[in-house]
Amino acid sequence: MLEASSLNLSVELAPSNRRGLLLANPAMPAAGTVGYGTDYAQLVDIEKLGAIVTKGTTLSPRPGNPQPRLFETASGILNSIGLQNIGIDAVIGEKAPIWATWRVPVIVNIAGESIDDYAQLADKLEGVAGVSGIEVNISCPNVALGGMEFGKSPEAAAEVIQAVKSQTTLPVIVKLTPNVTDIASIARAVADAGADAVSLINTLAGMAIDITERQPFLGGLTGGLSGPAIKPIALYMVYRVAKAVEIPIIGCGGIASADDALEFIMAGASAVQIGTATMVNPSAPLEVLEGIERFMEREGVEDIAQLVGVAKAP
Ligand SMILES: Cc1cc2nc3c(=O)[nH]c(=O)nc-3n(C[C@H](O)[C@H](O)[C@H](O)COP(=O)(O)O)c2cc1C
Repeated sequence: MLEASSLNLSVELAPSNRRGLLLANPAMPAAGTVGYGTDYAQLVDIEKLGAIVTKGTTLSPRPGNPQPRLFETASGILNSIGLQNIGIDAVIGEKAPIWATWRVPVIVNIAGESIDDYAQLADKLEGVAGVSGIEVNISCPNVALGGMEFGKSPEAAAEVIQAVKSQTTLPVIVKLTPNVTDIASIARAVADAGADAVSLINTLAGMAIDITERQPFLGGLTGGLSGPAIKPIALYMVYRVAKAVEIPIIGCGGIASADDALEFIMAGASAVQIGTATMVNPSAPLEVLEGIERFMEREGVEDIAQLVGVAKAP
């Protein structure tokens, strides 16, 4: 049995980037589940987390999709938020000054309707105190324009990442969609375009129908499925992507416990994001972290890196 103090849980998510993105540990909430982290900071000790990932941010504020926006399914939820957010200028003016007082790194999730949108967002975030990295969302299933469309083709995905990289020195993480035939080919394309890391998966496109109304239940008609229901799919995709790229992978999708997170790490993820589970229990990312620590102590694993990809067959 090891002492907790002798464990190394730190993770470098952007080893090829001059600025780097060094996290004290691999656990963070997933985009869209803790807003901008400021209210969340009232609920949990965010400084114990590896990072905070913000709600998807667009150039202009967005009101989001009509209600209802959430539907509970067997072992998961469908959401159709539609990227409701305050817009990049308010994020930089109102939220970043708060983040600048935190030690925990903040990763800003961005989404655009065009390649130029993504480039402008990256340009605006360059040099902003309190911002440690960008997560490029090319995988939102709940918006009419842009979003997931860029994440479905290797060429379009690469173009977005080239545009973002040309405007920023910040580490760039690319959030991938599972709504494709071959996620590994998209991962390879964005890695070749200069992505520092990839995160996966975003939600799976889905829907529910209100049989009394004889209409789709969600105001946005369709939604994105998340939660425990998607874990085996997400795990499989992380496993496949880990065989396809050399850059760090952040695993996400149905993680609710340390055991879930360890599965993703053993499949090849260097870090994990906890989404739906954080909405149910704000302490979920911290509980995941504590469970990983207990596993490492019990199993005599000194460095989390020793677990990354161990389940990856040759
Ligand atoms: C209510 C809600 C809002 C979300 N908003 C975003 C977002 O703004 N940007 C993004 O990249 N992903 C967003 N996601 C996707 C999550 O970050 C995550 O990829 C997905 O929910 C799968 O993880 P989970 O099963 O742990 O929830 C959202 C998910 C939910 C449930």
